[in-house]
Amino acid sequence: MEASLKSVFSEFEGRQEDLIPLLQAVQTRLGYLPKDVLLEISSFIHIPESRVFGVATFYTQFRFSPAGKTHIMACRGTACHVRGAPRILKAFSDTLGILEGEATGDLEYSLETVACIGACGLAPCAMINDRVEGKLTPKKVRGFFRRRLKNEIKV
Ligand code: FES
Repeated sequence: MEASLKSVFSEFEGRQEDLIPLLQAVQTRLGYLPKDVLLEISSFIHIPESRVFGVATFYTQFRFSPAGKTHIMACRGTACHVRGAPRILKAFSDTLGILEGEATGDLEYSLETVACIGACGLAPCAMINDRVEGKLTPKKVRGFFRRRLKNEIKV
């Protein structure tokens, strides 16, 4: 185990109740939860691997692949949903060639969904790094990446 992770583990006693706080602490340190670390957590707190994986995959706050340089959080909240959020998520997914929870091979982009980003008046929307993009359409999504590729916009 690398030193930085050892220091994360050392903040815990290895009790079963440590599972979620430990998952959170590891994700804060690494940005995601690698599979081998989940196995180490399992032996550290004496909980079967299946249960550690089960808990980690239950909560949407946890991710299992590293975030890309540009991280997209497509909103799937109610206001966005009724205004077409599934089509927006599909447009991001199709354009980037990745599914929700994944990152592109070059780690340029990653895609997630979020329950509500608090900009319902702009629905459907997404966060692209720290910037809120509102009133999205699939065409706007595709245009965003085209302009980005031509370096017309920076996010
Ligand atoms: S539901 Fe999408 S911003 Fe609130």
